[in-house]
Amino acid sequence: MKLGIYTDPHYSSQAVTCGVRYNSRSLEKIRRAYRSFALARCDLAVCLGDLIDKEPDHAAEIENLKRIAAVFRASSVPTVCLMGNHDAFAFTQEEFYGILGDACRPRDRALDGKRLVFLDACYFHSGERYRPGDSDWTDSYYPFEEALSAALASSRAEVYVFVHQNLDPAAEPRCRIANAAQVNRILSDSGKVRAVYQGHYHPGCRSVRNGIRFITFPAMCESDDAFFIETL
Ligand SMILES: [Fe+2]
Repeated sequence: MKLGIYTDPHYSSQAVTCGVRYNSRSLEKIRRAYRSFALARCDLAVCLGDLIDKEPDHAAEIENLKRIAAVFRASSVPTVCLMGNHDAFAFTQEEFYGILGDACRPRDRALDGKRLVFLDACYFHSGERYRPGDSDWTDSYYPFEEALSAALASSRAEVYVFVHQNLDPAAEPRCRIANAAQVNRILSDSGKVRAVYQGHYHPGCRSVRNGIRFITFPAMCESDDAFFIETL
């Protein structure tokens, strides 16, 4: 199975934010990524979140997301897109996937005898969900530990996990999911998880713990060719 993966385009009309994020260039980078994914005959494209960045008015955010949705729809490669903290700051889930298309909503799936599991950690450590105008890049939490244990226990396939925020203990602590240690225990106890793919920590990092590869991809908005093809 071949996956095209990218993360953190932070697309907006701004030329540069935070000194290093080239927001307005990301739409063209997304187009280029999909051309490569199609040429490589990827089975699936996965965006690990923070597709967009904020605009002074919500109409512009909607327009930006529609432009990205047009790229998704024009591609022969289907897309799954996680929400990141910036997406959740601008959109509800209903509005986000209403524009991108319901097929982009992350749902666990089996492909080539492997199981892809998508986690949503767009929650405060209190357990409350992020909502438009209220998210925090330093405070994320995954509230469905029991459901995750059950899903892994029932899977007979090897498992690959996708999440916007970081489970990798090597990522900057502020980017890490508040209950990462507990989630990682569930992943390693299952004996089935081969890799965990993340975004959010823009420089990216990699480590291997308890036989699980943790891969945090570098942010698309901060470099030129930050899209990746993973063969599972
Ligand atoms: Fe993020």
